[in-house]
Amino acid sequence: MMAFSDRIEAALGLAIARCRTPAAPRRLASALDYAVLPGGARIRPTILLGVAAACGEDRLEIGDAAATALEFIHCGSLVHDDLPCFDDADTRRGKPSVHVAYSQPLAVLTGDSLIILAFEQLARVAEIDPVRSARLVMTLAQHTGMPGGICAGQGWESEAEIDLDAYHNAKTAALFVAATQMGAIAGGQEPGPWAELGARIGAAFQIADDLRDTLYDAETLGKPVGQDDLNGRPNAVASLGVAGAVSKLKDSLSGAIASIPSCPGEAMLAQMVQRYAEKLAPVTPAAAPAPARRTVPGE
Ligand code: IPE
Ligand code: IPE
Ligand code: MG
Repeated sequence: MMAFSDRIEAALGLAIARCRTPAAPRRLASALDYAVLPGGARIRPTILLGVAAACGEDRLEIGDAAATALEFIHCGSLVHDDLPCFDDADTRRGKPSVHVAYSQPLAVLTGDSLIILAFEQLARVAEIDPVRSARLVMTLAQHTGMPGGICAGQGWESEAEIDLDAYHNAKTAALFVAATQMGAIAGGQEPGPWAELGARIGAAFQIADDLRDTLYDAETLGKPVGQDDLNGRPNAVASLGVAGAVSKLKDSLSGAIASIPSCPGEAMLAQMVQRYAEKLAPVTPAAAPAPARRTVPGE
């Protein structure tokens, strides 16, 4: 059986390669490739394929399409999020952000194209199973746009008062709920019972990201740090302090395994979630690398 990571990279690579037709504008095709390959942790599609496998998936092409669609939405959201009108971040995944490497117009178009390509992947599998295809489209749309998806999450940044939980749920946890629910749909199961697992992992993930933004250095993360404070964004560390954020992260994860619905691959999935929880949990001051030593002139 192919490893999840191999399935994900193969499916993403194929979908991106399809954009390089002789008729396509070369710089935009190149920017799409740049935004997706090589990737970051690919955690959302990995969770999606883990759930699909646990549900006993019978058509791997549907899982591959769902994983590709979800990662495209994620990559597109990062390209838009880094633009000067949002977080104005010059680096992402250890290299210049798309708007720095290409241009702002191409970054807007790259994000737009990835969002549209995501839904195209899901439409493609309608020939295999039209019902699963439509349910995947619906689920991804609900966790990407308004009123509960990433658009809503970033929309909160333009409000005078921001509720931290509503902000985090929409901005980040939504795509983790999409991951578990789309995995269930791809595997031929009902998505409803899978929401809690996604929500718990997503909440913990965002708190871990807030902790890293405060405690780590840019070189380790491959993106700018201290961004939440710089951009005046509410975040778990500002609201709860480091210890409070760590304790909320642990609370979110503590019920994750118990929330896994009964399914053929329950034990395998529980192990996978356990391993991931152990990776997220050590984001504490003790685990953070020492701050980078600055070179002082004349030293
Ligand atoms: C970063 O997500 C954006 C947030 C939602 C906090 P990831 O940490 O999953 O980014 P990559 O895909 O690994 O680069
Ligand atoms: C980005 O969130 C996630 C999106 C919804 C686009 P953040 O701004 O918190 O994450 P980083 O620090 O840019 O990865
Ligand atoms: Mg950002």
